[in-house]
Amino acid sequence: MVAAYRGRASSAPDPVCSDPWALRLAGPEGEALSRRWDRHSPSMELWIGLRTRYIDDCVVRALDRGLRQVVILGAGLDTRAARLGREGVRFFEVDQPASQADKREKVSKLDGYPLDAATLVACDFERDDFVRALADAGFEQGIPAVLVWEGVIYYLAEEAARSTLRRLAAELDPRSLLIFDYLNSNMAKSSPRLRPEDRAMKGIIEELGEPMKFGIDDATPLMAESGYRFVRTVSFDELALQYTGTYERRRFFRFQSIALASASAEQILW
Ligand SMILES: C[S@@+](CC[C@H](N)C(=O)[O-])C[C@H]1O[C@@H](n2cnc3c(N)ncnc32)[C@H](O)[C@@H]1O
Repeated sequence: MVAAYRGRASSAPDPVCSDPWALRLAGPEGEALSRRWDRHSPSMELWIGLRTRYIDDCVVRALDRGLRQVVILGAGLDTRAARLGREGVRFFEVDQPASQADKREKVSKLDGYPLDAATLVACDFERDDFVRALADAGFEQGIPAVLVWEGVIYYLAEEAARSTLRRLAAELDPRSLLIFDYLNSNMAKSSPRLRPEDRAMKGIIEELGEPMKFGIDDATPLMAESGYRFVRTVSFDELALQYTGTYERRRFFRFQSIALASASAEQILW
């Protein structure tokens, strides 16, 4: 479904992002799910497009500044390794074995997709030691990396989310940059104050067997407790204004944001 939205946002008349593989990876099943979700959340296509674009821009900027490792945590059908790869940069895709098998099968059917663009690292954040798994796959802990954790943190139990944040800060090179999106706790925990449309949208995700569990209302204390020194957050409305030049009060999509974080205050002056 996310890949379908990314593909739709990429092929819209004035696209905010560009993922030429996404629609084919999503297939008819993903596209049908996205159309079903549209009924409750007409802003989802724009949000996924903005999220893809902003994270792409951050990764490109980090690579321009010399970072040589990119880790996509909970990669799903992410295609950044194929789209943003360049000489001398290694991409690692960390995901559950079942999601990786599904992606491998899908990309193997795509003409021209660079199958070796990323090193696959199988891992369950709630059970496995993902830092060790990364190191075993050739990730270098002594040099900085950019870590993309897109569309994942709200599906984890709170302790798994917090311990992953702590480990990334403590065990990777402190100049590394983490980028992740998050939901507020009203959305994650089904507050009675949720709009009926948002409740219905959340219901579809739960029906698919991936309930949202963890929400963040203020990222700064969480990131401070987890060992970070640098935090910047950006909202859906801010990204829409930046990339489309518009602000619409009626978009009603104010539960989702993106955070950039680093354990060092020195390197990353975004
Ligand atoms: C909604 S998808 C997002 C995929 C991709 N990052 C994107 O934005 O298109 C969520 C991803 O998180 C992964 N995921 C969920 N829980 C996980 C866990 N406990 N350990 C590892 N990966 C997990 C799923 O396998 C899936 O690929």
